[in-house]
Amino acid sequence: MKIVVIGTGYVGLPHAAVLSEYGHEVYAYDIDETRIKAYQTGEAEAIERYVNEPGLADVVAENLGRYLFFTTDINEVVEDTDVFFFCINTPPQRDGSTDLSYYLDAAHHLADLLAQRANPSRVVLVNKSTVPIGTARLLESVMHEYGVKNVGVASNPEFLAQGNAVEGSRRPDRVVVGADTEEDLEALRRLYSQFVNHVRIRYLETTPETAEAIKYMSNTLLLTYISFWNGVGARLAEAMPNIRMEDLKIGVTSDARISTWGSYVSNGAGGSCFGKDIQSLIYQLNRAGRSTDLLQAVYGINEYQKTYLIDRAVHEARFSFNQKTVALLGLAFKKRTNDMRDSAALRVVESLLARGVRAIRAYDPLAMDEARRNWFNPDKNHLFERISYHDTAKEAMTGSDAMYISTDWEEFRGLTRTIQTTVKPPYLVMDGRRMLPDFEKLVDAGYVYLPVGGPLMSGSDKDNAKSSDGRGVVAIAHRDVRQVG
Ligand code: NAD
Ligand code: UGA
Repeated sequence: MKIVVIGTGYVGLPHAAVLSEYGHEVYAYDIDETRIKAYQTGEAEAIERYVNEPGLADVVAENLGRYLFFTTDINEVVEDTDVFFFCINTPPQRDGSTDLSYYLDAAHHLADLLAQRANPSRVVLVNKSTVPIGTARLLESVMHEYGVKNVGVASNPEFLAQGNAVEGSRRPDRVVVGADTEEDLEALRRLYSQFVNHVRIRYLETTPETAEAIKYMSNTLLLTYISFWNGVGARLAEAMPNIRMEDLKIGVTSDARISTWGSYVSNGAGGSCFGKDIQSLIYQLNRAGRSTDLLQAVYGINEYQKTYLIDRAVHEARFSFNQKTVALLGLAFKKRTNDMRDSAALRVVESLLARGVRAIRAYDPLAMDEARRNWFNPDKNHLFERISYHDTAKEAMTGSDAMYISTDWEEFRGLTRTIQTTVKPPYLVMDGRRMLPDFEKLVDAGYVYLPVGGPLMSGSDKDNAKSSDGRGVVAIAHRDVRQVG
């Protein structure tokens, strides 16, 4: 089949690349010329500057010019295309509603071209973007407005997680296709023939509105589950004596009905979608006059979690950030990506700067260019001049008064020794990801350890078997600290 993928970001590029592996003729179209030029080189470095996903550059290089083509001119491919996928960004607006302007620009442009198309064969327009319930119907009305003939609309939400985009596209848990007519459902069955009747992958056909709702329900349920662990599990282990976070997790998730995914407590779930999608669902339900108490609570817990450790450092460790230098380890919203959208690190930096830190010494194995270019540009906020970037975690912590671990990069699990050889106690280690399995060595040596999901630990507390909040809470070490993510 001939396919056009509109929008070549984290969803569109992997989707186009993996479809091309199945022998479809795939044209990946984007309005961003520099991005398309980078993809056209087929070079890993150029591709990864935009979408850094394991294995993706190889799939692009293998199929480039054979089954996979990149273009900034959709006009030249409209004539005999069977299926168009919308993989366009749908960011949140201030009031939580979804900004559909990018999506609608593309929809109107395409409608204009399709209205002039000579080829009478049917065209199916498929939303992979996460869009408010009713958007497929809106797309249909745009097509009718332009007089486009023989067109069907469908919703086929994307469920991949970043860092696993290629595998997530090749072997998703499920494929959800919402369409109105048997003809359109059949076109998508042909397109996705590798998934239909698959023994493990569920192929669900439904209405466009149900498919759209499934996407919002899925993301908000996942965030609700993470927030349950952050808002209840972590709080218990921080506040009550002698509770081991990791044992709590094992004990609760040993029930086959309860997943371990999401039980990794953290400094808040980031990424481009959880926050925006829950806000959008709140907005959509409010507009329908329905209660959103649960969703609002979940959103609030997650936002609070992003700077909670800094508040704890001030109140429990009595640490003053004013004029201090803080090493920030991890900028990406999770490991194995350079994406910083809604990353906890953004809120951490905001909070540290508001508390008057003199300098932030940042390190991230993948996201430093992204941080410099798109998030902490000193031209936009002169306070960002206080952020410097370093090639290693050790270099970042050199000369600092405290450190904050924000991302669950594997390499941070070995930091204990680096801390001991680089900075002197009493030095505050804020661990937003529970990354230090041997933190007791630090505590024994006089460092102050403040993890999410655990009490403040310092040498003196340990001697007294008390936490430093003075409420007589016994600070027992959590021996089995495992990695988040
Ligand atoms: P992205 O910002 O990485 O990519 C969007 C691309 O669309 C950009 O390259 C942009 O230039 C392009 N674009 C914008 N307007 C255009 C237009 N008029 N014509 C052509 N191209 C245009 O976004 P993303 O992360 O890939 O997300 C895309 C959608 O998929 C969103 O709705 C998101 O909620 C959803 N989603 C994302 C993920 C994820 O992991 N990132 C997972 C599931 C669903
Ligand atoms: C998430 C969903 O997992 C995907 O199914 C969905 O398609 C996607 O959003 C989307 O719609 O964009 P993603 O944002 O890539 O995927 O990343 P996740 O792996 O879900 O992690 C999100 C955040 O939650 C990260 O900050 C991660 O560190 C955090 N997290 C995850 C936890 O804090 N604890 C956990 O146990 C798991």
